Amino acid sequence: MTGWWSIFLFTLAVLTEGTVARPFSSSTWKHRRHPLRGDHIAQFKEKYFTQILDHFNYNSLGNGTYAQRYLITDQYWKKDGPIFFYTGNEGDVWDFALNSGFILELAAEQRALVIFAEHRYYGKSLPFGDESFNIPNIGLLTVEQALADYAVMITELKKELGAGKCPVIVFGGSYGGMLSVYMRIRYPNIVAGALGASAPILSTAGMGNSGQFFRDVTADFENCSTACKDAVRSAFQKLQALAQQEDYAHIQSAFSLCKTPSSPKDIHQLNGFLRNAFTLLAMMDYPYKTSFMSDMPAFPVKVACETMLNGTDMLLALRDTVGIVYNSTGEHACYDLYSLYVECADPTGCGLGFNSFAWDYQACTEVELCFESNNVTDMFPPMPFTESMREQYCAKRWAVVPRPGWLKTQYWGDALSTASNIIFSNGDLDPWANGGIRKSLSESLIAINIPEGAHHLDLRASNTADPDSVTKARQKEAQVIAQWVKTAREKTV
Ligand SMILES: *[C@@H]1O[C@H](CO)[C@@H](O)[C@H](O)[C@H]1NC(C)=O
Ligand SMILES: *[C@@H]1O[C@H](CO)[C@@H](O)[C@H](O)[C@H]1NC(C)=O
Ligand SMILES: *[C@@H]1O[C@H](CO)[C@@H](O)[C@H](O)[C@H]1NC(C)=O
Ligand SMILES: *[C@@H]1O[C@H](CO)[C@@H](O)[C@H](O)[C@H]1NC(C)=O
Ligand SMILES: *[C@@H]1O[C@H](CO)[C@@H](O)[C@H](O)[C@H]1NC(C)=O
Repeated sequence: MTGWWSIFLFTLAVLTEGTVARPFSSSTWKHRRHPLRGDHIAQFKEKYFTQILDHFNYNSLGNGTYAQRYLITDQYWKKDGPIFFYTGNEGDVWDFALNSGFILELAAEQRALVIFAEHRYYGKSLPFGDESFNIPNIGLLTVEQALADYAVMITELKKELGAGKCPVIVFGGSYGGMLSVYMRIRYPNIVAGALGASAPILSTAGMGNSGQFFRDVTADFENCSTACKDAVRSAFQKLQALAQQEDYAHIQSAFSLCKTPSSPKDIHQLNGFLRNAFTLLAMMDYPYKTSFMSDMPAFPVKVACETMLNGTDMLLALRDTVGIVYNSTGEHACYDLYSLYVECADPTGCGLGFNSFAWDYQACTEVELCFESNNVTDMFPPMPFTESMREQYCAKRWAVVPRPGWLKTQYWGDALSTASNIIFSNGDLDPWANGGIRKSLSESLIAINIPEGAHHLDLRASNTADPDSVTKARQKEAQVIAQWVKTAREKTV
């Protein structure tokens, strides 16, 4: 099943460049190599590392290896300077390298070597090539294997580069931020400190409220104006009324759908497609134009609310609002619901193409994302996604049973007090923020909150449109990281 399906979706992803449905982090599997903003145009070299296929079983795959991609630049490095290592997440590593300019700015300041490593099963780091997403080949996709990859890569590259004494600081955003936090917890012998930006380590470990995510998406629109939130809710309500009357022709024309919906399943898909656009708008609510997970105007939430409140037909307004996300190129004459949005084990979206299969599998195994909308604490139609729905889906799709609680067991949940040297940064506009650590837990477990920040804004290159709060956050991060490096270096002499 996976075989034809993946090729089918892969083709669709190619055909639908510019449209994206992968909120959690990177999504456009087709990355755009635009220059970095700011003064630092990085000269990354793209390389491959011969990586161990299975770190935890000496028998099954013996000494098998795969080619793991990474990017490296020593343009700022002074001998014995620190190593800044980005723990790649669920996408093409270039997407993260090109949207994390702060790390390069900091490297220039602190004279660091910079490495961006690609996560196994994403981008070009496919352990079994095109067969990577078949069962059982997919089985080597786990958080533990990914962390072990990074630990081995850091150790080997340090040897190769004669950088044995250089302290390593790990960086990551979103799931990549979770991995950075985990690296410090799991391999403190290798990593001197971690900046986990927008890392929802609690909500993804099943700690929190299933309504939190879409409530916080809604809050961004409500904060723009209450009328905006009300208009979105009313539009969904009107859609529901039409669906109940089975007035599918009206729905097709109002939303410019390529095919007339014909069942509650199609309406469910439409609701998911629409809701996903709001998720992306909220996450990517940056104060300037960006092309990260999709092309976004500056302040997309504000633009969305203006669009939502412009005109008299609520359904057309809703169509045009989601068009900011799906139709930024203006190339879609109509919307093909099943190719622009694929429902999966992550209700915030898995994206499209190969990367989306890998993320779906992770959401079916370790990463818990049972988030729901309810039309009470949020403005979306009720769309439950319970643990038992997750189990059913995952058994069918991947022949696996999710293990709730396993991430929490391994990486400590909120019982972090014996950890050290971790910054948890979060932007108040980011719907992931309240799934993470919002209050400092000790002198070296530091929470930095950025009131005007969206999804890991602090990792982005500085920009003239930046709010003061993110500039201050970056200054604090720079200062803490410099201190970690200094302390680590003193220990190695
Ligand atoms: C794996 O081990 C076998 C037996 O020792 C050896 O012949 C082979 O070259 C090894 N392969 C790799 C990739 O190291
Ligand atoms: C709404 O936005 C303003 C301006 O960014 C901010 O000061 C305020 O804290 C926000 N309120 C909420 C509830 O998010
Ligand atoms: C609002 O509608 C007018 C007239 O249709 C249009 O010219 C304008 O671009 C719209 N503004 C937004 C923000 O959609
Ligand atoms: C996409 O944008 C183009 C150009 O603005 C417009 O003509 C088209 O109707 C839009 N498609 C949808 C489905 O709204
Ligand atoms: C949302 O709740 C309101 C009542 O607060 C109800 O009138 C409306 O039909 C509900 N919308 C949906 C889509 O369920």
